[in-house]
Amino acid sequence: MAEVPPREDRRTFLRKFAAGSLLAAGSPDMLSARRNSTRILRARRRVAANDNIQIALIGAGGMGNADVATALEIPGVELVAACDVYDGRLGDITEKYGAGIFTTRDYREVLDRDDVDAVIVATPDHWHQRISIEALRSGKSVYCEKPMVHRIAQGHDLIRAQEDTGKIFQVGSQGMSSLGNEKARELYLAGEIGELNYAEGFWARNSPIGAWQYDIPEDASEETVDWDRFLGDSPTRPFDPLRIFRWRNYRDYGTGVSGDLFVHLFSSLHFIVGSIGPTKVMATGGLRYWKDGREVPDILLGMFDYPETPTHPPFNLSLRVNFVDGTSGTTFLRLVGSEGAMDVTWTEVYLRRNRAVDPLDVFTAGKEAEAAFEYERKQMLPPAEVVYTVEDGYMGAHFDHFFGFFEGVRDGTPVAEDAIFGMRAAAPALACNESYFEETVMHWDPEGMTMS
Ligand SMILES: NC(=O)c1ccc[n+]([C@@H]2O[C@H](COP(=O)([O-])OP(=O)(O)OC[C@H]3O[C@@H](n4cnc5c(N)ncnc54)[C@H](O)[C@@H]3O)[C@@H](O)[C@H]2O)c1
Repeated sequence: MAEVPPREDRRTFLRKFAAGSLLAAGSPDMLSARRNSTRILRARRRVAANDNIQIALIGAGGMGNADVATALEIPGVELVAACDVYDGRLGDITEKYGAGIFTTRDYREVLDRDDVDAVIVATPDHWHQRISIEALRSGKSVYCEKPMVHRIAQGHDLIRAQEDTGKIFQVGSQGMSSLGNEKARELYLAGEIGELNYAEGFWARNSPIGAWQYDIPEDASEETVDWDRFLGDSPTRPFDPLRIFRWRNYRDYGTGVSGDLFVHLFSSLHFIVGSIGPTKVMATGGLRYWKDGREVPDILLGMFDYPETPTHPPFNLSLRVNFVDGTSGTTFLRLVGSEGAMDVTWTEVYLRRNRAVDPLDVFTAGKEAEAAFEYERKQMLPPAEVVYTVEDGYMGAHFDHFFGFFEGVRDGTPVAEDAIFGMRAAAPALACNESYFEETVMHWDPEGMTMS
């Protein structure tokens, strides 16, 4: 990569990375938030009452319920079936949505139904790929929770199923559909932080629930749980309620803090800068506090090298999760460039710019210092920080992500996070686990999507 160019070439240089991207963003107005007219138009489109998209939920736990609640906020979407391996969850569904909802422990009975257009897959991670492929091949559209796959090697079969069937497939990293992420992308493309050289992201928690110590239902037993169907392709074991109700703690079912949380940050970052992913992955960490039998660390640090692509220069990424953080409750994604930085959330962007004239132009600065008798007139400085905030009443990232999914189901509009995007977000997160457990550096080819 070329060195930082002189001032007159700077905009050309930035344009080089911006222009290769999908969006031709105009120069952003630093002082006023701009409306996203595209989204307003799409949101206004009418849906005929007799033209409902009928959905089914597979995995009716915490996120599955949140997904259905959000999906049903979109006009023309109707829940017709639900599947879970624990009877208590199915009871909750019929209580909430009525006895008319078809319920089953066996997801294949959902896939066999002609009245289901699309399924939400919100099971633990080890079932995502298998159910998604079978659903696509049964002619259903699929909204699959993140991470798309449990193991990197599972990704290509799912990508193939998406291609073979031509059905809509969307992974559930909803943050990338948010107004906050869209604004960050617009600012990035307009060169507002200069040349990207570093990014970082962080999740901090310190509560038992935040650290995955969920309640175990009192009636959990081999009668109320279809244990074999929970295990699926994972090793056979005697019934253990901890393993199903706190599945994130076990590597056979979950993907650790990186698969659970880093994957969101990858999705947002890749969307904002148009990246396909890193080539080098290194992770370290440890189990510092939540020693409850879990097999995964509660503190994880990941470092990633991103090579130059048409949409960004080479840069480094550092991600952290800390489940023992006394300050708790924070998460952020920060992009740092030669002229400023942005902190990005789903609802806000904090753009901070260097107030100096041109920190990189050493030559000009030297010349100015030599000219001792010149009047160094002070200048009007631009704002050091600009905060973009969503308008009141914003429906949120989750709504936007589902809106995009149903647009795709209805008229084939491409979704934000298809199987290829989902694979490129999941793989570096999963490679973190391999790096951590194998104590090695992982090399990933984001273009061909293979480990090297
Ligand atoms: N997008 C987000 O922000 C977000 C947030 C939380 C969770 N998630 C994802 O959602 C998924 C579910 O997480 P959760 O927190 O809801 O977990 P959960 O344990 O609350 O729910 C999972 C449900 O799946 C059921 N299940 C297990 N195996 C099944 C099978 N073979 N068939 C049908 N049901 C089965 C379980 O009984 C349980 O009710 C995970 O992949 C997780 O990563 C995404």
